[in-house]
Amino acid sequence: MSSTHLLGLAVFLGGLSLLVYRLSGLGRRPGDYPPGPPTLPFIGNLLQMPKEKGHLQFEKWAKQYGPIYSLILGTQTLIVLSSEHAMKDLLERRGAIYSSRPDSYLAHDILSGGHRVVHMTYNKSLKLARKLARKVLDDSIIQSTFLAYQDLESRAMLLGFLETPEHFSNHLKRFTCSFTTQMVFGHRTPGSDDAFMKKLFYPCAAAMFAEVQESEGLSDDRMGYFAGSLLQAGSETTMATLLGFVQAMVIFPDVAQAAQAEIDRVCGDRLPSLDDWESLAYVRGCIKESLRWMPTAILGVPHSVDVEDRYMGYRFPKNASVIYNVWAIHNDPKRHPNPRNFDPTRWAGDNQNSYESARNEDVTQRDHYAFGMGRRMCLATNLVDQFLFLAISRLLWSFDFKRAIDEKTKQEIIPDMNDLAKGLFTMPSPFKANILPRYGARAQRIREDWSNASKELLDDGSQWKEIPVTPWKG
Ligand code: HEM
Repeated sequence: MSSTHLLGLAVFLGGLSLLVYRLSGLGRRPGDYPPGPPTLPFIGNLLQMPKEKGHLQFEKWAKQYGPIYSLILGTQTLIVLSSEHAMKDLLERRGAIYSSRPDSYLAHDILSGGHRVVHMTYNKSLKLARKLARKVLDDSIIQSTFLAYQDLESRAMLLGFLETPEHFSNHLKRFTCSFTTQMVFGHRTPGSDDAFMKKLFYPCAAAMFAEVQESEGLSDDRMGYFAGSLLQAGSETTMATLLGFVQAMVIFPDVAQAAQAEIDRVCGDRLPSLDDWESLAYVRGCIKESLRWMPTAILGVPHSVDVEDRYMGYRFPKNASVIYNVWAIHNDPKRHPNPRNFDPTRWAGDNQNSYESARNEDVTQRDHYAFGMGRRMCLATNLVDQFLFLAISRLLWSFDFKRAIDEKTKQEIIPDMNDLAKGLFTMPSPFKANILPRYGARAQRIREDWSNASKELLDDGSQWKEIPVTPWKG
């Protein structure tokens, strides 16, 4: 054999041993990674990953392995944070490297041309998208134009609850969907069966996007995805939160009664409005508690780390996914005693709104983590506070949320708070409730209110005669 052949063979064998060495490490957890469940060669923890009710298994692992643990998923590493201190240290303080998203080649690159905001890595496009979203979600717009939409749509929702209470979850869906389609496209969704967006109106967020598109030279695709991202981010999350609230009222009737007593004392026979924010502390507690008790993003939205990093003696590899275990933190009995009790009094004296709370330097004084953390945090906290306040106070002013009766046993049906629907966002599985107007006079008021508002504001196609306008800030 010639020396050239020998050299070639040596290189081949060297490469092969390196490959075998690398492959033999596949699936194993290196000693300096955070601890976690035992791994199998090649696949790591893939077989242990829960197919459903993942939050419960993730909570169990947190109890076993501590507030920072890791899962090895084939070639990928998943770091799970279950402490608000670790979240703050990494997602906030080291936000410059912890604000990307894990690769999602199919959903992001292939199916949405890299334009879907929630999947974007932390780059220039994302920063522009967030800048646009911040313009749309400016406080002055929230408190004028968007308040007008919310006011109208919450009245329509009350009418829906009154006329077909058994379809309460559809009414919540229509309410949140109609609000977001107005916010983004200026178009109402008058019924649950509306052919979505047959017609687009201006000015709305899409109009502002059109202006920005020209000045920034952005493609139609990109602007379409910006608008769609807001729609997606805004409707299912708020709907899921409200559905959780209704379920809580059925399970915990004392809470509904205490809130109704406060509302009756402050508002009497008139419908609550945003001006009652200061006076309705218990209702504000119901909002915080809804977001804590049934957080829609139960394991947050995954971040990823751009470079290799070290924390608390552990090594996190570059591009590891980092998830924050919202469920475990919200249900930590040291943080929230009797965590599965829906108890608005735990927020007595906490007058922070969601935005202020999410920025409190002392993480133990933050109310919850339903909106995420760090540079990818939800941009709509003020909008959501306003939205939930109007919806929750008006629903409680109008209705009693009784338990349905089982036809066979004649017993009350108590919904199972642990039975969660599968899907992108967490919400209760379908449940029954017996929703009744509290007083005949209030039912009458709901009907009159809607009749007056719709005559004054809407055309024959149930769209705004004139859309409330707030000039966009440049
Ligand atoms: C109850 C209602 C809502 C909840 C619980 C919620 C929750 C969240 C969460 C968990 C994130 C990701 C945070 C992270 O990555 O750490 C997020 C991001 C975001 N949300 Fe919300 N959200 C809600 C409503 C809304 C609404 C109404 C809008 C706008 C119409 C909105 C717009 C956004 C935007 C633009 C982002 C940033 C996406 C990114 O940077 O990847 N959200 N939200």
